[in-house]
Amino acid sequence: MATHRPLPPTIAPTAFMATALILLLLLLPDEAEAKLSPKYYQNTCPKVQQIVSDVVTNKQITTPTTAAGTLRLFFHDCFVGGCDASVLVSTNAFNRAERDADENVSLPGDGFDAVIRAKTALELECPGVVSCSDVLALATRDLVSMLGGPFYRVRLGRKDALASTAASVAGNLPHTNMTVDLLIANFAQKGFSVQELVALSGAHTVGFSHCSEFATRIYGYGGGGQAEHDPSMNPHFAAALQKACANYGNDPTIAAFNDVMTPGKFDNMYYQNLLRGLGLLASDYALAADPRTQPYVQLYAANQTAFFSDFAHAMEKLSVFGVKAGHKGEVRRRCDEFNNLST
Ligand SMILES: *[C@@H]1O[C@H](CO)[C@@H](O)[C@H](O)[C@H]1NC(C)=O
Ligand SMILES: *[C@@H]1O[C@H](CO)[C@@H](O)[C@H](O)[C@H]1NC(C)=O
Ligand SMILES: *[C@@H]1O[C@H](CO)[C@@H](O)[C@H](O)[C@H]1NC(C)=O
Repeated sequence: MATHRPLPPTIAPTAFMATALILLLLLLPDEAEAKLSPKYYQNTCPKVQQIVSDVVTNKQITTPTTAAGTLRLFFHDCFVGGCDASVLVSTNAFNRAERDADENVSLPGDGFDAVIRAKTALELECPGVVSCSDVLALATRDLVSMLGGPFYRVRLGRKDALASTAASVAGNLPHTNMTVDLLIANFAQKGFSVQELVALSGAHTVGFSHCSEFATRIYGYGGGGQAEHDPSMNPHFAAALQKACANYGNDPTIAAFNDVMTPGKFDNMYYQNLLRGLGLLASDYALAADPRTQPYVQLYAANQTAFFSDFAHAMEKLSVFGVKAGHKGEVRRRCDEFNNLST
């Protein structure tokens, strides 16, 4: 009978809806991520994609290291607390920022510059509307595709972080000398599979690394003489690197291309290199040697279409990792400063 109902029927639907709403919020893995959309700025800044693309294309033409620099910046940003432009904030009197962590080895100025230029152009067109984290995500996608890599969809609407600390970097970034166990654990912690780890590592098809990042592979390997190199390296490649890096102790800016064969092209050469002993970093080589990752290295070395497809999916996933929405973030006026300077 109706009289046995615990709640009058007029209230029940409301209570039900409230419960359903709470359940929905609990079930949605990421509320912030759900709000993102490629059309987020359709009414507020309809030219956003064109403006970012024009600015970063010009920057890449005048400074060819821009693409690799921006890609590295994007990874660094997303892997430390989510894609929230926390890496763009400068250190000030109150705070040592993420970009000045010891782990920032060779975070390149070109990437910062590309984002700041695009943001400046956007502030003229639609002031205070487009977040720096969205600019970085779009710039990265545009530059990857400009170098011949895949074009993928970028959802927009990220808010910029309200904090950025050097301390937050510890343990979050993969290291050039990590074992495959550690690499897998590092990516798994953020929800990325072994295959996604290998696909995202393909970003090393562009860019460079400083000699200090691979010195232990080319000098005195395994406690041997100075000329002893990692035996898994092609001997001619190792000899060329030993020569190029000879003075790196005095000049820490000396660097080598990550993909020695086609350094300016986004392609699958990185994987082909690994199988020929032409991998630069210990962590690169480890991917080719470990039975868990080797099958994917072989797949991508043989099939660029497969690499592009998996890379694009992994980048879409990475670009919504840990995004901030609502009051958990802001649209920064300047990418290198919080809007409230005393925070
Ligand atoms: C990386 O950190 C060092 C040490 O704090 C700093 O001097 C350097 O400017 C930082 N690099 C970038 C690109 O911010
Ligand atoms: C690995 O890299 C870190 C940071 O660059 C360094 O401190 C450490 O000594 C390296 N370990 C090995 C075994 O090369
Ligand atoms: C390469 O990979 C693509 C995408 O996974 C697949 O459709 C295609 O059949 C593969 N090509 C070869 C030659 O295996």
